[in-house]
Amino acid sequence: MSILIKGGTVVTADLSYRADVYCAEGKIQAIGENLDVPAGCEVVDAGDLLVMPGGIDPHTHMQLPFMGTVASEDFFTGSSAGAAGGTTSIIDFVIPAPQQPIMDAYHQWMDWAKKSATDYSFHVAITWWDESVYKDMGTLVQEHGINSFKHFMAYKNAIMCEDETLVNSFSRCLELGAMPTVHAENGDLVFHLQKKILERGITGPEGHPLSRPTEVEGEAANRAIRIAQALNVPLYCVHVSCEESLQAITRARNEGQRVYGEVLAGHLEIDESVYQNEDWDYAAGHVMSPPFRSKKHQDALWKGLQSGNLQTTATDHCCFCADQKAMGKKDFSMIPNGTAGIEDRMSVLWDSGVASGKLTPNEFVGVTSTNAAKIFNIYPRKGSISVGADADIVLWDANGSRTISAKTHHQNIDFNIFEGRTVKGIAVHTLSQGKLVWTNGELRTVRGTGKNIKRPAYGSTFDAMQKHTAQNEPKAVVRNK
Ligand code: URP
Ligand code: ZN
Ligand code: ZN
Ligand code: ZN
Repeated sequence: MSILIKGGTVVTADLSYRADVYCAEGKIQAIGENLDVPAGCEVVDAGDLLVMPGGIDPHTHMQLPFMGTVASEDFFTGSSAGAAGGTTSIIDFVIPAPQQPIMDAYHQWMDWAKKSATDYSFHVAITWWDESVYKDMGTLVQEHGINSFKHFMAYKNAIMCEDETLVNSFSRCLELGAMPTVHAENGDLVFHLQKKILERGITGPEGHPLSRPTEVEGEAANRAIRIAQALNVPLYCVHVSCEESLQAITRARNEGQRVYGEVLAGHLEIDESVYQNEDWDYAAGHVMSPPFRSKKHQDALWKGLQSGNLQTTATDHCCFCADQKAMGKKDFSMIPNGTAGIEDRMSVLWDSGVASGKLTPNEFVGVTSTNAAKIFNIYPRKGSISVGADADIVLWDANGSRTISAKTHHQNIDFNIFEGRTVKGIAVHTLSQGKLVWTNGELRTVRGTGKNIKRPAYGSTFDAMQKHTAQNEPKAVVRNK
C-alpha cells in the first residue's frame, strides 16, 4: 500500500515549498519534486492544495463517564469526525474515579480506545493520592508510554485535586520526567458560588458563567504555576479561557519558567452571550468549563496565540446531547459540562486565524499540530512532514468553504456550537498511517485501525531542571553546639 501526493505545496511549522510526498507502510518515505515511485502506487492530485501535518487535538474526552452520564462520542465516531476535519491524532484522558486504582482506569480506557480509527495517546489524571498512585505513575511512564499527568483543580466532591495532591504529583512528575497539566479553576470557589446563585433563584444555564467568573480561573492558574515554580517543574495549562490565566502564564514565561498554554477553538470564537439565549437547550448546549467569555478575553486569547504565550489549540471534545444536558433542567450545576468540536477546530482556526490574517499558514500548522507534538514529546513522528514521520497528512483547500451544522457533521452529538458558521479552509483529503480516511467528502475510516502512541519521558528539559534543582538544594547551617 503506497500513495503519492502529487503537486501540492508542503506547509510545515517552518516552511512552505512545492514537493511531492511519497508514503508507504504508514510512513513518509520521500519528499521532493518528480519523485520516482513504484508502479501501482495510488496517486492523489494535490493540485492547488496545501499538504500539512494532520491535526493533533491534545485535549479530547471520548466516551467519558462524567457528571452522571457518559459522553456520547466514542473513540471510533470521534476519531472519524476528527479525520473529516483534518485531525489525525488525539490525546485523550484517563480519569480514575476517586480511590480507583490508576492502573485499572488506565486499562479500562485503553480497551475503549481500541475502537479508534486514527492514532491516539493518553494523559492520565491524578484524582487522589497515596503510595500506590506514586508507584503507578512510575509504571505508566516507564512501561506504558505516558508522559503527562492531568490535575483537575475543579469538580469538587468528584475528581478535584487538593493542593496536597498537586504538590505530591508535580514533584513525582519532576522525578519521572513527565509533564504535569492542570484544569485551572478553584473548585471550592465554584461550589460556593453555585450554591449562592441557586439560592438567588437562578437555576438556568445563565447561572453557569456566574458561578465561574474569570477570577476562579486566574487564581487557580496562578496557584498551579507558583507550585510548579517552587518545585521547578514545567507545567501545561489546558483550556486557558481568560486574560487572568493568560497573564499568569505570560508573567511566568517572562521570568523564564517553562509554562505552556492551550486554547480551545470555542473560547477563541464564541462569547458569553450564548448563555443569555431564551432557548434553554441552546444555552445548555454551550455549558462547558471554563465557560465562554466576553470579547475582551477572546481578543486577549488571540494575542496570546499570536505572541506564542499560548502554543496549542484543542477542542476539549466532550459531547453531551440535549437529553443529557436536560439532566440539569432544574439546576444548572447538574448540566453535564462539555462541548464538541473535533471536526471543526482546523476549519474554524483557518477561517478565523489565517483567512483573517491573524496567523500565517506556518503558524497555523504550529498551533494545530507541531507544537502539541513537541510539547508532548512525539515530534517529529507526529506534527511534521519529514522522511520517517508517520504519514498523517491533511490536504487542505485554503479557498474551499463549508457551512457547519449538526445536520451534516460527523460528530455523534445533536448540537454544534459553531452552527450556521460558513468557514473558509477545508480538509479535502485526510491520510492516517498513509491511508485515505477522508476523501472528497467520503469518510473511509475503519474501526480499530488507530494505534496507541507511546510518548517517552522527557529528556533534556527535565535533565536541566533536575540539575538546577539539585544545584540549588539548600544546605543546613553548621553551628557550634
Ligand atoms: O466542560 C468541560 N470542559 N468538560 C470536560 C471536562 C473538562 O473539564 O475538561
Ligand atoms: Zn499494564
Ligand atoms: Zn477541563
Ligand atoms: Zn477536558
